[in-house]
Amino acid sequence: MILELPRKTEHLGAVRIHEVQRVYELDSGASKFPTKAKEAVATISNDEIERINQKMAIVVPIKDERLNLLEGVLSGIPHDCQVIIVSNSARSPVDRFQTEKQSIKEFNHFVDDKILLVHQQDPGISKAFRDAGFDSVLESGTVRGGKAEGMLVATLLGKMLGKEYLGFIDADNYIPGAVHEYVEIFAAGFTLAESPYSMVRVSWTHKPKIEDDRLFFPKWGRVSEVTNQCLNRLIESHTGFGTEIIKTGNAGEHALSMALADLLFYASGFAVETYEIVNILEQFGGLLPPTHPEVMSSGVDIFQIETRNPHLHEDKGEGHIDEMLLSSLGAIYNSPICSEKAKNNIASILAGRGLAKEGQEPPSPTKIEPAATLDLPRFVETIRRESQTLSEFGG
Ligand code: GDP
Ligand code: CO
Repeated sequence: MILELPRKTEHLGAVRIHEVQRVYELDSGASKFPTKAKEAVATISNDEIERINQKMAIVVPIKDERLNLLEGVLSGIPHDCQVIIVSNSARSPVDRFQTEKQSIKEFNHFVDDKILLVHQQDPGISKAFRDAGFDSVLESGTVRGGKAEGMLVATLLGKMLGKEYLGFIDADNYIPGAVHEYVEIFAAGFTLAESPYSMVRVSWTHKPKIEDDRLFFPKWGRVSEVTNQCLNRLIESHTGFGTEIIKTGNAGEHALSMALADLLFYASGFAVETYEIVNILEQFGGLLPPTHPEVMSSGVDIFQIETRNPHLHEDKGEGHIDEMLLSSLGAIYNSPICSEKAKNNIASILAGRGLAKEGQEPPSPTKIEPAATLDLPRFVETIRRESQTLSEFGG
């Protein structure tokens, strides 16, 4: 892969937020070649990408998606990556989870990928959390529904497998070639990272839509534009310099080094991707007392890399957009690092969209404790013994 080096970097405490980088060429080939733009681009070899892939688990959270989409996603993930599928699909009246399992098995007959599948609300997993006293992911003793809850389960399973990197790719992606590119982007970002605490977020050039019977490629997703704006107002209120650095406030497709994933609080539900940035700034942005001194010395790298492939996923409708926006902005608003000015900006956006009344505060998302606070060996022992849905394929 040949990609642009970040042209600009914002520093907040130990956090380095890099400007969006374009991909120039998807495959940089095997032979060395002179490029006149040596200082401006990074050439990441296939070897480098493969080295990261072998240490990376790709997490696919899924809830009641069409099986053709899931199979397409699996076909786009490089063979070397471990796959972790955390499903929260319905078990009744139709057992969609069982159907997913069957279709993964059929697919894997031909490819022999390493795939771990589990249902998020597996009683054995809930028990393992209860035994560990890890209540922040539970509701009435069972793992809550929600993508973030699924991500936490996947983080722990990835840690159990000794993976060093964790990439998240939604199951509702229509284009397997885009999925493949996301994984290469993750690997390219981790190759560029200077710190072991790093995150790579995918930025989409375009999300195609059909308008008046023609394909139209708008530049931004509707939620992203607003979330990015609010995150940028938050950052500039601390640095004192206007910025548009954040372009990936809602990036469902993103990746974390395990060292970083281990320390982060995940925000429940749809605030998770936005809150990752907020929480990194809370913990390592130098605005609050640092939680982990070892991280402060190596820093945290946040890369944003723009895909060549368009992002095409299931349209979940207007209600979903409002819900996402309210929870994403709520996650920023309720942070102890959110300034008055950034709060006022959010309040007026929400009021303008009829999502909150004048003077009403947006809800604060429920926070899930970091994976590092859980006793992993004991957790693994319980799920190995008690899980009813954990299945391992291939490898
Ligand atoms: P959007 O793409 O951000 O608009 O949100 P989606 O509704 O497409 O959700 C993102 C991904 O998370 C999709 O693959 C969903 O199937 C999956 N997902 C949604 N809710 C849950 C959940 O409760 N648990 C799990 N494990 N996955 C979920
Ligand atoms: Co989606």
